[in-house]
Amino acid sequence: MALTPSEHKATLTFSDGTPPVDLPIYPGTMGPDVIDIRALYARTGKFTYDPAFLATASCNSSITYIDGDKGELLYRGYPIEQLATQCDFLEVCHLILYGELPTPAQRESFVDTVTQHTMVHEQMQFFLRGFRRDAHPMAVLTGLVGAMSAFYPDSMNVHDPRQREVSAIRLIAKMPTLVAMAYKYTVGQPYMYPRNDLPYAANFMRMMFATPCEEYRCNDVLARALDRILILHADHEQNASTSTVRLCASSGTNPYAAIAAGVACLWGPAHGGANEAALNMLFEIQREGGVAKIGEFIEKVKDKNSNVRLMGFGHRVYKNYDPRARLMRETCYEVLDELGLHETPLFKLALTLEKIALEDDYFVSRKLYPNVDFYSGIVQQAIGVPVPLFTAVFALARTVGWVAQLNEMLADPEYKIGRPRQLYVGSARRDVQPISER
Ligand code: SDX
Repeated sequence: MALTPSEHKATLTFSDGTPPVDLPIYPGTMGPDVIDIRALYARTGKFTYDPAFLATASCNSSITYIDGDKGELLYRGYPIEQLATQCDFLEVCHLILYGELPTPAQRESFVDTVTQHTMVHEQMQFFLRGFRRDAHPMAVLTGLVGAMSAFYPDSMNVHDPRQREVSAIRLIAKMPTLVAMAYKYTVGQPYMYPRNDLPYAANFMRMMFATPCEEYRCNDVLARALDRILILHADHEQNASTSTVRLCASSGTNPYAAIAAGVACLWGPAHGGANEAALNMLFEIQREGGVAKIGEFIEKVKDKNSNVRLMGFGHRVYKNYDPRARLMRETCYEVLDELGLHETPLFKLALTLEKIALEDDYFVSRKLYPNVDFYSGIVQQAIGVPVPLFTAVFALARTVGWVAQLNEMLADPEYKIGRPRQLYVGSARRDVQPISER
């Protein structure tokens, strides 16, 4: 997208004799301006240095806006608080993919298109058989998503908008089926086929929990809670997995391979694996004595040498409350109420830990508030999603964000393959010596 430079510019001056350089500044609709450094190396022979991209805009995007200080999250301009309470996940998918909330006719057509693509190629079940039964679901899902490029060769060309749309719909439609298959495979149960008469979240829950011997009656409160989890996790600007998808897709590889790279990145405990890590943290505290042991655990977290983190707390961008966490907390209470689980030890432990962390100056001073993963893990546990599958559910939700960001990049005629540089700190040039002289 061609950007309009501001009337102002940034001037870099150097004390090493390098001539000063003026750099254009681009303002966004909202949020920080950016300084265009693309000409910097050609004009100064210098790179910028920002290893974890703490102050780097890697692209321009119209999809999601985050204000970490205000705790604001907008999808295509709409506040997450309104989307999560007034829309369902497929409406939000339409918004993220096409830029607008659907009209009633568009919604009906989009839901029908997605519904008609929920089955996967029958051969994929044999691909699954190559995994051990105790394989982590994210290992299986990474393989299954990448394998889609071997089963859907007619939608591989990312430079063809039609093929990009077909692969986007296939990924959104088939992720619930693939996640449910990954789960059924680990528990040795037969796969359940999707049902076209069920809404998206309920269809997924039925594929997870029904068996050929017994139907699954989906509780509306739980289905709504899962739908909200999907909405809250649908996209999140240029987070690690989305940046991975963009960089991977920038080589021109097929969309399934790029999304598989996003699944692999999301798996990490510092990112999408945090909900699984948060529950495992609660299980560990429970094993060691429960609420009575929270103080001891918190002291361990404060001890830098322990390498113990409060999983599900803190965020790179939100230095106040994660707006998704607030909505997820509400959903958490709705689900615990519906299932009468408020008094169970695990959930009492979670809410006690939340209270302590919100009052303890160590966390408050570092702005370490509960993030969306803390509560989404508790809700999924209450619904009955097995803990190792939490991140796969996150990947299911984030697929629409990944494909929308991939499509946005590839539709930009100015896009190039991503190729960062480095600061080299290795050995100076030296010659190989014969082994007898080493
Ligand atoms: C997601 O990017 C996204 O948008 C991601 C995501 C998305 O939707 O895509 O929002 C999803 O990944 C949410 C985050 C889930 N991760 C976790 O819950 C894992 C636990 N949290 C952390 O590891 C950590 O908070 C990060 C990685 C999320 C953010 O870390 P930062 O911003 O790089 O902060 P930092 O590591 O520099 O920490 C700042 C300080 C440090 O202490 P000091 O050196 O200042 O004394 O806070 C401490 C850290 O030690 N700290 C924590 C902590 N997180 C940071 N201490 C204890 N427990 C924690 N969770």
